[in-house]
Amino acid sequence: MPPLTPDAPPDAPPRAPTFVSRAGAGTDPVAGPAAELAAGLQAQPAAIAPKYFYDPLGSALFTAITELPEYYPTRTEAAILQACGAEIAGVLRAALPPGFDLVDLGAGDGAKAARLFGPLAPGRYIAVDISEAYLRQALDALQRRFPALPMVGVGLDFAARLALPEGLPAGPALVFYPGSSIGNFAPPQALRLLREARALARGGALLIGADLVKPPAVLEAAYDDALGVTAAFNRNLLSHVNRLLGSDFELADWKHRALFNAAESRIEMHLQAQRALTVRWPGGERRFGAGERIHTESSYKWQPAAFEALLRQAGWRQVQCFSDPLAWFGVFLAQG
Ligand SMILES: C[S@@+](CC[C@H](N)C(=O)[O-])C[C@H]1O[C@@H](n2cnc3c(N)ncnc32)[C@H](O)[C@@H]1O
Repeated sequence: MPPLTPDAPPDAPPRAPTFVSRAGAGTDPVAGPAAELAAGLQAQPAAIAPKYFYDPLGSALFTAITELPEYYPTRTEAAILQACGAEIAGVLRAALPPGFDLVDLGAGDGAKAARLFGPLAPGRYIAVDISEAYLRQALDALQRRFPALPMVGVGLDFAARLALPEGLPAGPALVFYPGSSIGNFAPPQALRLLREARALARGGALLIGADLVKPPAVLEAAYDDALGVTAAFNRNLLSHVNRLLGSDFELADWKHRALFNAAESRIEMHLQAQRALTVRWPGGERRFGAGERIHTESSYKWQPAAFEALLRQAGWRQVQCFSDPLAWFGVFLAQG
């Protein structure tokens, strides 16, 4: 990518990001996260959706994961955007009107989108994330760096439905969904989300990262690093669940597991009970045998042609795939 927009001059007038809270909008509209969590814990096998990783500590731990030597997706995606940035920017400049909205799905710390501000010159940055407190902090910091760019934060759970408040975006937009987060969705749900992203783009474009199939040893190391940061990220989920559900998980009872399921083409993360135990919460409980697991994340790994086909099935056109020399990661560019 060409150089970034220069940081704020010292005398730039202050601007505050706007914030819209719609967190919980994607969960059961009647019962909310507690009911969703209780149902998952009572399912056979037990499961907790990966969106519950992201309390403020979970978001910070994810940012730490992106720095780990084993976690190739972030640096590989960044290298692809660096190497192919001029070509991507050329296509997007032709496809989008001046002053378009840049919609960042699962924005996290917004660092990846910030690298697009200079080359693409969006008219507004709309950052969407379930981890509201973390997003507010991240946007405040970004706004200080880029005071001239209007920014809107949307605290939203888009797992069940991607629908932004009225007027967001205002016209043809770039939907940016990096980090291979689309891999957390099984193919039918990924298709649904890509269709909703297309409706959101309003004739604009999509720039999305998808992780590709590669040797299982590389995949498993990326999700089970030597330092134990991914294990901490996985176990921290239980602290978050304790707060949301009022449950009594003891983190030390649970061991992090990551394995590649070749039949499903996905990495799975689990938490495995280290002894027989019972977890209780108001109105419910679940007994776990020693060795029994809670499924906490699936991360689907795609063949490039299959992901391109999924994009086309969702209605996206002029799909292009940019990859790295090892073909470990794909950045896909598509038009609405
Ligand atoms: C793997 S991180 C990626 C962060 C950043 N975009 C990157 O590529 O480094 C996934 C992000 O998506 C957010 N997220 C996860 N599930 C979500 C959901 N259901 N709705 C909205 N945001 C979600 C998380 O809070 C987190 O910031």
